[in-house]
Amino acid sequence: MKVGTVTEIKKHEYRVGLTPKGVEAFVKHGHEVLVQKGAGEGSAFPDALYKAAGAKIVDKAEDIFAQADMIYKVKEPLEAEYKLIREGQILYTYLHLAPDRLLTDALLKSKCIGIAFETIKDSRGQLPCLIPMSQIAGRLAIQEGAKYLEKPFGGRGVLLSGVPGVPKAEVVVLGAGTVGANAVKIAVGFGARVTVLDVNLQKLEYLEDIYGAALNTQYSTPQNIDAILPTADLVIGAVLIPGSATPQVIKKAHLKTMKPGSVIVDVAIDQGGSSEASHVTYHDNPVYTEDGVVNYCVGNMPGAVANTSTLALENATLNYGLAIADKGVAAALKADKGLLEGLNTFKGKVTYKGVSDAHGLPYVPATEVLS
Ligand SMILES: NC(=O)c1ccc[n+]([C@@H]2O[C@H](COP(=O)([O-])OP(=O)(O)OC[C@H]3O[C@@H](n4cnc5c(N)ncnc54)[C@H](O)[C@@H]3O)[C@@H](O)[C@H]2O)c1
Repeated sequence: MKVGTVTEIKKHEYRVGLTPKGVEAFVKHGHEVLVQKGAGEGSAFPDALYKAAGAKIVDKAEDIFAQADMIYKVKEPLEAEYKLIREGQILYTYLHLAPDRLLTDALLKSKCIGIAFETIKDSRGQLPCLIPMSQIAGRLAIQEGAKYLEKPFGGRGVLLSGVPGVPKAEVVVLGAGTVGANAVKIAVGFGARVTVLDVNLQKLEYLEDIYGAALNTQYSTPQNIDAILPTADLVIGAVLIPGSATPQVIKKAHLKTMKPGSVIVDVAIDQGGSSEASHVTYHDNPVYTEDGVVNYCVGNMPGAVANTSTLALENATLNYGLAIADKGVAAALKADKGLLEGLNTFKGKVTYKGVSDAHGLPYVPATEVLS
């Protein structure tokens, strides 16, 4: 199979679909790989490494779309790319079609085979290509929070760990899922005083077992949130109810009760945010201050650490990509129910229920289009 990786053109997207190691794996399996010139630069992978791994470097994305059987990228195609997608071409990337009618129509029109990273499931029913990005965002949330707590960045001027004789900072993590658990890990590692709140007692039990006395856990109720926010130096918003609007557990009125210069990192902003005061920000201007509280609300946090994110994403996506190339797309999808869940569009048909429901489009089960 001919596999192509192009430069991501979305604002502040520095990740790339394949690293040189990924290219090497495809080449070893007997496939041909085309990489757009400079595609890996943002993730610190120069063209020379791709060449050494066996890729052919191609100047223009147009030429890659025109030749490749499978486009292996990161972000959903943008409008400039719609017209380049060909009939029968496999598009293997994050797609997020449910909120994007324009892209859904473009994929249906192109009659491509759209396999979305975000809906692939593993044998435990989890989303293996989303989890690494939540791990990164959770860990990065503390790193960013620590930075914006510094006075020159608008914060309170507090060091997370304190020093002997001076108290540690108070970190409050709302949500104990993947983002929350990873934020807890780093905050505890920094030596802060950490409290995590969730409505899922099993998740709290699990974290308490791991961290013991180094972590406070609390059931998430409006009363507990009212009481804890005024004590916090750093708050991480990591709340999610899959398939529903994110509960905005931090109300606008809470900000006035918080310490001046405290920081909220609202990781859940990509799903609406855990705070009523949150609005999306970008890496070039990631924070704004409201009622004295510094709000960090970047919707694509992993982009800031593109090298780590690219490597982590490829760890999750590569084996599926190789299976598609080795077996052919139909056989690979038939052989793996979890990969089949990733099939969102197939030659002009919507094969993912969530996408058909979101847009009122006819739904054809993935098993039917392959039979
Ligand atoms: N901004 C970014 O760059 C970025 C990156 C990755 C993930 N995210 C987002 O972060 C959010 C969290 O992702 P995740 O992978 O940790 O999800 P997850 O499903 O693993 O965890 C969400 C947690 O929220 C808990 N929860 C639900 N209602 C609650 C409430 N009222 N109070 C406290 N906890 C509550 C759930 O029980 C669950 O444990 C999602 O919105 C995700 O899209 C953002």
